[in-house]
Amino acid sequence: MAEEVQGQADEAVDSSNGESTEATIAVHWREEGYFLPPPKFIGQANASDPAILERFSEENFPECFKEYADLLDWDQYWDTTLDTSNAPFWRWFVGGKLNASYNCIDRHLKKDRNKAALIFVPEPEGEAHAAITYQELYRRVNEFAAVLQDLGLKTGDRVTLHMPMTPELPVTMLACARLGIIHSQVFAGFSGAACGGRIADSGSKVLITMDGYYRSGDLLDHKVKADEAVEAARKEGQEVDKVLVWRRYPGRYSAKTPMVEGRDVFVDELLAGHKGAVVEPVSLDATAPLFLMYTSGTTGRPKGCQHSTGGYLSYVAGTSKFYQDIHPEDTYWCMADIGWITGHSYIVYGPLSLGTTSVLYEGTPNYPDAGRPWRIAEQLGVTIFHTSPTAIRMLRKVGPDEPAKYDYHFKHMTTVGEPIEPEVWRWYYEFVGKGEAVIVDTWWQTETGGFLGTGLPALDRMKPGSCGPAALGIYPEILDEDANPIPMGSGKAGNICIRNPWPGIMQTVWGQPERFVSTYFAKYNKDPDSKDWHDWPYFAGDGAVQAADGYYRILGRVDDVINVAGHRLGTKELESSALTVPEIAEAAAVPVIDDIRGRVVEMYVSLKPGYTASPVIEAKVREAIETDIGKIARPKNIWIVPDMPKTRSGKIMRRVIAATSNFSDVGDITTLANPEVVDKIRHHVQAAKLAHGEVPRELSEAEQAEIKAFGNAE
Ligand code: WTA
Repeated sequence: MAEEVQGQADEAVDSSNGESTEATIAVHWREEGYFLPPPKFIGQANASDPAILERFSEENFPECFKEYADLLDWDQYWDTTLDTSNAPFWRWFVGGKLNASYNCIDRHLKKDRNKAALIFVPEPEGEAHAAITYQELYRRVNEFAAVLQDLGLKTGDRVTLHMPMTPELPVTMLACARLGIIHSQVFAGFSGAACGGRIADSGSKVLITMDGYYRSGDLLDHKVKADEAVEAARKEGQEVDKVLVWRRYPGRYSAKTPMVEGRDVFVDELLAGHKGAVVEPVSLDATAPLFLMYTSGTTGRPKGCQHSTGGYLSYVAGTSKFYQDIHPEDTYWCMADIGWITGHSYIVYGPLSLGTTSVLYEGTPNYPDAGRPWRIAEQLGVTIFHTSPTAIRMLRKVGPDEPAKYDYHFKHMTTVGEPIEPEVWRWYYEFVGKGEAVIVDTWWQTETGGFLGTGLPALDRMKPGSCGPAALGIYPEILDEDANPIPMGSGKAGNICIRNPWPGIMQTVWGQPERFVSTYFAKYNKDPDSKDWHDWPYFAGDGAVQAADGYYRILGRVDDVINVAGHRLGTKELESSALTVPEIAEAAAVPVIDDIRGRVVEMYVSLKPGYTASPVIEAKVREAIETDIGKIARPKNIWIVPDMPKTRSGKIMRRVIAATSNFSDVGDITTLANPEVVDKIRHHVQAAKLAHGEVPRELSEAEQAEIKAFGNAE
C-alpha cells in the first residue's frame, strides 16, 4: 500500500524578500509530503516506462503527438502535424481525415459489440440500470443521425443541445459527430435564457432537449426551458425552426409544458420512421469543428470554444489512456455532467474512443443519501472514479464513514475543476480510495480540451493540493505581469501560461476570432505577425506557483471569474443580470470562500434614487440571476447598500466588498472617493452574516491574496 513519504524535508516555500505586489503574489505554505502509487497499480499502468517522458520532450515536439493521434483510426493520414502559418490559430494533423463517431463506436464493434459502452444509472434507485452495448449505441446513433439528416441538417451546421444526464445526450452528440454537425451542449441546469443566448450566438436553427429528468428526487419539467430559450434566441434575431424533444420515458410525456405545434416534435416518434437506418460516418478534415462549448469570461457574453475533430479527439484519447489509465476492461465513472467540458472529454469522447465502459449517472451524488456513489461503485464494479473537490467535500461532510460500508475497489481516482485542499485530498485518498487508488489532480479548462497539469499516475509521485507536473507535451511557464518568468521554487506566484500549442486546444472563439487572440494570447505576445509558436504563449487566466520539485499549485482565476463548485461564472454576466431589475442602479458580484463549494457568489447592489431597500428587491435580483443564468449562479446573499465603494474615477472597488464578505482585511482605502461607506457596509453586512450564524474563518494566505486581487482584471 502506498504511504506518505517525507518530501522536501518540510521545506516551507517562502519568498525571500517577503514583498508582495499585484504582479507577483508571495505565497507561503507548508510543503506537503509525497504519496507513492501502489505497486499493483504500476504493474498494470498504461504509462509505466519513463521513456514516455523523453518521447514527449520539447525536442520531439510537435511530432510527439503522433503517438496520441495513432490511437485513432484515420480514413486518411495527415501530412502536416502542426501548421502555424495562421498563428495563433493552430491547425493540427492537417490533411488527415477521420470521423469521431466512427472512432467512438464503429471501430469497436468487431471485437466488443456486446460490451457495455455506457451504463446509465437513473437517479431513482428503484429504476434499473441500463447497459448500452456498443452495438446498441451504434444502432441508436445511426437512427438518430438519420433523423437529423431527414431534417436537412448537414456538415457544418450548428445544433444546440440542452440535455440532462441520460444516454440520449451522448447518442445525440455522436449522431451529430457522425454527420459533422457541430453540437453545442448547454448544461441542463442553465436557464432557458442562458441557453437561448448560446443558440443565438452559434446560429442554431434546431434545439434538442428532453422533457424531464430527475434531480434530488424530483422529475423536473425541463421542456419549459426550451420555450424560454427559443424566445430568448428570437430576441437576439435567431429563429429556431425545430425543437426535438426526447422523452425521459419514451411514449410518455413527463413535462407539464405543452408542445408547440409545428415546432416541437417527440424524438421517439421521429425515430419510429428510421428503424434500422444506417448512416455512413462522414469523413471529415481533422480541422473540422466537432463541437462548441460555451464558457464565461471576464467581460461580455460567453465565448463559444470551438474544438476540432482530429486534434481534440487525439488529445482526449491520449490523455484518457495515460492519465486516466483507461484499459478496455475498466469500468470507468466520471461523475461530472456532460454539459461541461469534463463530461465531453472524459465521459464521452475519451473513454469511448478507447472502447471502455463509461458510467453515466443522472442525479445528484447524495441522493437519496451520501452512500449513493459508493453503492453505484459496488454494484457496477467501478475501477476508475473521477469527480470534483466540491463533490468530495460534500460527500465527506454528509457521510465521512460511508465509503467503508461498501465493497468497491478503485485503482484510480481523479479530481478536477478547482483546487483541492490537502485535507480534503487526504480524505479522498484514505476513505474513498481506501489507500489502494492513485489520485490524479487534473488542471485544465474548457478552452484546453484536455489536461494541462497533472501527473502520470504510475510515474509521478502524488502531492496533495498540487496538480503535479505538466502533462506530456505541455511546456508551461509562470510569468509575472511584465512577462518575466518566475523561477520554480521561488515561492512566488504569477500567471501560468503554456508556451506551446497542443492538439486539444480550442481552434477559436466561435464567430469572434479577435476575442480568441485578445483573451488568450495578446497579453504575452510581442509580435502579432509572428508565425513561430514560441512567440504565442497561451495565457490561461489562472494564478499558479511552481515548487522546487517542478510541481504546480493552481491558486485560482486571475480574471474575475468566480469558480463556483468547479463552474465558471463571469462577474459581468452576474452583474448585468442584476441590472435588469428596474430598481437597481449598480451591481457588483464578489466571491466568498465556501467550505463545500469552493467559492460562492455574493451580490452587492445599490438602488436608484427614490427606492428603499426591501426583501422584494432582493428577491427580484435573485430571480433575475436564476432566469438569466440558472440556479447554479444563485447568490448566497444579496446586499443592498447605500453606495458602492468607488475610486475617484468611479470604478467600483470589488476587492473592498470582497474583503467585507470574507471577513478579511479591506486593505488600503485611502484612494477611494467615498471611504466612509466602507465601514457602513462592513457593519451592515458582517452583522447580518453573524446574525445568520455564519462563522467567519481565517483565510489562508493564498485565499487572502485572491480576495485582495479581485477586481484587478478590469
Ligand atoms: C479551475 C474545467 C485547480 C481553473 C476542467 C481553471 C482547477 C478553471 C483545476 C477551468 C484543478 C480546473 N486545480 N484549479 N485541478 N481544474 N481548475 O473551464 O481555475 O470549467 O481555469 O474547466 O477551473 O474551468 P472549466
